[in-house]
Amino acid sequence: MSDLRQLQSLVAKVRQARGFTMDPVRIFALLSEEIGEVAGELKRTWSPNYDAFSKEDLQSEIADALVCLLALANQFEIDLEQALIDKLVVRDGQREWKSAAGSAPTIRLCEANDLPTVHAIINDAAQAYKGVIPEDRWHDPYMPLEELQQEITQGVEFWGYEEGGELIGVIGLQQVQDVSLIRHAYVRTARQRRGVGTRLLTHLRKQATRPMLAGTWADAVWAIRFYQKHGFRLVSPEEKDRLLRKYWSIPPRQVETSVVLADERCYRAEHDSR
Ligand SMILES: CC(C)(COP(=O)(O)OP(=O)(O)OC[C@H]1O[C@@H](n2cnc3c(N)ncnc32)[C@H](O)[C@@H]1OP(=O)(O)O)[C@@H](O)C(=O)NCCC(=O)NCCS
Repeated sequence: MSDLRQLQSLVAKVRQARGFTMDPVRIFALLSEEIGEVAGELKRTWSPNYDAFSKEDLQSEIADALVCLLALANQFEIDLEQALIDKLVVRDGQREWKSAAGSAPTIRLCEANDLPTVHAIINDAAQAYKGVIPEDRWHDPYMPLEELQQEITQGVEFWGYEEGGELIGVIGLQQVQDVSLIRHAYVRTARQRRGVGTRLLTHLRKQATRPMLAGTWADAVWAIRFYQKHGFRLVSPEEKDRLLRKYWSIPPRQVETSVVLADERCYRAEHDSR
């Protein structure tokens, strides 16, 4: 590779021929000015108060800034190409990039210090129920903190989908008797329908060893569709009443207004017991 080296010597020749300043401090002042010009062009990409963004204008400003950088390197006889390879490829290549690791999405078990965020996610996502589920079942906040704490005390463990160090969605899992219950699947409103719920549910299903049941409001048609898309089936109203009473601890009115969906292991278990 020798393009950058050639470019650096071309810049030196042209600047010298034109009588441009060779003083590094002045070159630096010009560089700062050109960087400002780059910012000015980029501003046009979002601000309606300026002329339309032009790629050619941006290109020209970036080129001016690069010329200043190359000129600065020339003044100190820096081989920029070698410096770049040493830094970017060799030295940086051996470093651990925390920012990159932090932005890769992960699914992890939520801890005690996540509680305020889990609480916020649930109550944000639960806004979907407002005006949809029976009025006497809706309250604001939908899930008070004490209720969430109680759920955790009763064995609900929350898994969270984290991206860029931020929790985006949560799903609760509770082992009760011979089944696993999916409890409280919630994805931040602004991030719904982009596969986060699917990844959380798939994560739980991969580790499941028992039949899985999910309960939701009968009126939450989107949630029913979500589980159906993942192979869950609605159980009959009679079976729903039986399952909710057997495995959940919820008031009779919630039993009345809810549905239960069961995964393949449940139908197989049911079929085998016949
Ligand atoms: C239900 C929920 C957890 C799903 O998570 P998600 O990240 O939005 O879901 P995904 O993107 O993985 O899957 C999307 C699928 O779920 C269903 N779905 C989710 N939100 C929907 C909506 N608002 N309208 C219609 N279908 C919806 C659809 O089947 C959709 O598939 P599609 O986009 O191909 O039509 C999330 O939408 C949510 O928090 N909703 C509000 C609270 C809730 O209902 N929780 C369920 C409690 S048990």
